[in-house]
Amino acid sequence: MQFYVDSANLSDIRHAASLGFLSGVTTNPSLLAKEDPSLDVKQIIKEIHASVGGHCSVEVNSTDTDGMLREADEILKWFPEATIKIPMIPAGLSAVRRLAQQEIPTNVTLIFTANQALAAHNAGATYVSVFVGRLDDISTEGIQAIRDTAEIWDLHSLDSQIIAASLRHPLHVLECARAGAHIATVPYKVLMQTLNHPLTTSGVQAFVDDYKKMMAAKS
Ligand code: E4P
Repeated sequence: MQFYVDSANLSDIRHAASLGFLSGVTTNPSLLAKEDPSLDVKQIIKEIHASVGGHCSVEVNSTDTDGMLREADEILKWFPEATIKIPMIPAGLSAVRRLAQQEIPTNVTLIFTANQALAAHNAGATYVSVFVGRLDDISTEGIQAIRDTAEIWDLHSLDSQIIAASLRHPLHVLECARAGAHIATVPYKVLMQTLNHPLTTSGVQAFVDDYKKMMAAKS
């Protein structure tokens, strides 16, 4: 399972990308709205893309097909490798089909069921983003949507990629990998939490201390 960072914060994205295990970044309008509102969205997106170098999903804000296609054209002028993130609504599926016909990669977002994921796949989506945390928030087991989707993808050898999204803690990441998600898009804080273990921290400290003692004994 690959890791993407789910963020619009440039310094977090740059740090995560510098660690060498990241394959991409996803943004959305709410993540961008958390950043300095005076910043130019086009400029931030271009810098985010340059910082990560891999996959970069950029979401449209329109809710009608023509508006989404116009926004996709604009985003592709910013950088032609962009993956266009489209909401899982009927007008979105039409936009996905039109973009797929032009071989433009799409990431269908706000998917909460395997049926929605299948519809997005059939419209021609390159990626289907299945949300976990927002289902947990309404007392529905979010991981089950990943399990159902991955089982169907496996059964029918579907080639679009399942992105586990809306992840809130390291156990979500673990469960998504076990369930068969191809990619987890993870908030920066959770990404850092997945790297840490107290026994790793204390183990490194013990090795450093013992090495110092050994060097001191030799001198
Ligand atoms: C990523 O593609 C999604 O937009 C994101 O993971 C949503 O996360 P949230 O449910 O925490 O807002």
